[in-house]
Amino acid sequence: MNVLVTGGTGVLGRCVVDKLVAAGHRVRVLSRDPSRSSTVGDVELCAGDLRELASLRPAVSDAETVVHCASDVRSPVEVDVAGTANLVEAVRGLDVGHLVYVSIVGVDRIPIKYYRAKRDVESIVEHQSVPWTIQRATQFHPFVAEMLARSARRPFVACPTGLRFQPIAVEQVAIRVAQHVKAGAGGKAADLGGPEVLTLHDLASTWLSATGRRRRPLLPVPFPGTAGRAFKDGANLCPGQSSGGPTWTQYLEACHNPEGAVR
Ligand SMILES: NC(=O)c1ccc[n+]([C@@H]2O[C@H](COP(=O)([O-])OP(=O)(O)OC[C@H]3O[C@@H](n4cnc5c(N)ncnc54)[C@H](OP(=O)(O)O)[C@@H]3O)[C@@H](O)[C@H]2O)c1
Repeated sequence: MNVLVTGGTGVLGRCVVDKLVAAGHRVRVLSRDPSRSSTVGDVELCAGDLRELASLRPAVSDAETVVHCASDVRSPVEVDVAGTANLVEAVRGLDVGHLVYVSIVGVDRIPIKYYRAKRDVESIVEHQSVPWTIQRATQFHPFVAEMLARSARRPFVACPTGLRFQPIAVEQVAIRVAQHVKAGAGGKAADLGGPEVLTLHDLASTWLSATGRRRRPLLPVPFPGTAGRAFKDGANLCPGQSSGGPTWTQYLEACHNPEGAVR
């Protein structure tokens, strides 16, 4: 199949591209700046920006399936919401038979700006004419690691109380997305999460050990408001729908040697 992957230069998208190429598909990647991309090999890179409808036309031509992984957490209304409306408009009347969208577990229950935008994108996908699949996933291992690295720039690591995550290996999500491409449109897929639910405190202390920062204190802080309540209620989790795959500890062991240096 001819598959267009938006966000094919990103953390998930790169892995999805690998799975699709391995499955024998002809893959094209949409990127704002293909010259910066390390995606090579059997993949065609195509310049385009979701914010500019006209720029998407070359990328969508000949596509039979579109896997939509592109996102910008800093400009979710302009890139995710308006950009998806542009993508849907660009494929209108073409031979695209399947649109796969990757979303996040709990976007309908957790009132933060990025999640609201993701929910709006889901709604756009659900109400357009191309048959679709929406796959929600929990937080990826590298996302949790980056979140902790940002937090560890301070002399302590703030841990909102009651906050839990179910981190998942990027590869597990990519495998599931590639399965959707093969199977065809399936509507709302079952949520996909990692193999274990851990408190932020536990995630942080394992990460501090793995990165050689054992003495950095963890500071419990409150997480007020409706978003805090939704996270405490586990709206971001799907414990019954685990992907299997590597645990958080196994991910960290694969990334860092015992002295905390990145492999
Ligand atoms: N990270 C997580 O823990 C997590 C969990 C569940 C679901 N998800 C969802 O999975 C998807 C992929 O996440 P990710 O972490 O892999 O993303 P990422 O690494 O931040 O990659 C974002 C991608 O979006 C593209 N992009 C950004 N702005 C664009 C624009 N204006 N036009 C065209 N492309 C644009 C970028 O391509 P260029 O820079 O090459 O243009 C890049 O490839 C997202 O929808 C995200 O919400 C993420």
